[in-house]
Amino acid sequence: MRKTAFHAPLLGGISPETFLAEYWQKKPLLIRQAWDRFPELIDFARLSEFAQRDDIESRLITQQNGRWTLERGPFSPSRLKRLPETDWTILVQDVNHQVPHIAEFLYQFNFLPYARLDDVMISYAPPGGTVGPHYDSYDVFLLQVGGKKRWQISSDDAMGFIEDAPIRVLKEFNPEQEWILEHGDMLYLPPKYAHYGVALEPGMTYSVGFRAPKTQEIASKFLEYLQDELCLDGMYSDPDAQVTTTPAQIDAQFTARIQQMLTQIRWDEQMVQDFIGRYFSEPKPHVFFDQHSDPLEYDDFVAAVASHGVALNLKSQMLYNEQGIYLNGEALEADELASLTASELAQLRALADQRSLPAGEYDEALLEVLYTYHEYGYLAPANHD
Ligand code: SIN
Ligand code: CO
Repeated sequence: MRKTAFHAPLLGGISPETFLAEYWQKKPLLIRQAWDRFPELIDFARLSEFAQRDDIESRLITQQNGRWTLERGPFSPSRLKRLPETDWTILVQDVNHQVPHIAEFLYQFNFLPYARLDDVMISYAPPGGTVGPHYDSYDVFLLQVGGKKRWQISSDDAMGFIEDAPIRVLKEFNPEQEWILEHGDMLYLPPKYAHYGVALEPGMTYSVGFRAPKTQEIASKFLEYLQDELCLDGMYSDPDAQVTTTPAQIDAQFTARIQQMLTQIRWDEQMVQDFIGRYFSEPKPHVFFDQHSDPLEYDDFVAAVASHGVALNLKSQMLYNEQGIYLNGEALEADELASLTASELAQLRALADQRSLPAGEYDEALLEVLYTYHEYGYLAPANHD
């Protein structure tokens, strides 16, 4: 990925280092003319096709006379045809899984780890369309694509949300700053920064979202992981048992013996790394990979990789750490990992970082790993859909 060449315009001439030090998770930043290098623009018809699919999350938010309505997709073509001229917003998640140039836009943010990047959500709104004043728990970059939207923002996060609304709308919103975003302008907001966007002219907002799991979520997922991984010895025993006259009572010795057994539950950094690799590369619940309906024969795959290179599926998440290589929630098996030389391992890590490998001759052990991933639908030769 062309790392340095594209960052300066994306962040308005601010280096990624300065952006992280001064703005990231700290304060908003408006960047005029941040990004408009799209080979084509997604129009409403294309977004509507996504909103009709059941493997893509979509929502329609309408406001009429102060009343908010939320409808969840998939939407029928007739529902989409019945939409009025004004005052609604349709939002489609994970468009980076569907459109290569949207994935390329998402990966412009690769100065942050992939484990932190979530998705590009695209919203379309005619004049008056808004999702109301609210704040999100996550950092967000809001890029205007076509049309015009007025954004007002406020650092005041003390206001509660309207109780019986189907979406999170602040009861009160006192804007501190206001801008009109036009095609190519982008607004960065840290978590919990209140914002209120209202479309002035029909257009789209591309929201780059970030992933920040709650402590509770990480803890319960790690406990699930431990449950699968732990294999403990021993069983309850009490050779020093005494006669009891209160047999219903769970006495202190019983509790102490159980507590002692539980002290066997331990984990180390390797297990934490393995958990992180698996969990953060896991696909979202609605994401499925078709086992390649038409996988290439091994020899054809090798020839295609030699002449075109290989690219990860847009839906694939590939990560690595000292412990292993993780692709879509699965760790590379220990024996496969052991069969790779240091340079083959480096090539797999480069595939994870760059999401592709260039055309070339690769060693057998690496090609075998790549071919297994190809059979699962996780990657394909760069010219092959
Ligand atoms: C929008 O696309 O209008 C809303 C995005 C957001 O507020 O996060
Ligand atoms: Co928001």
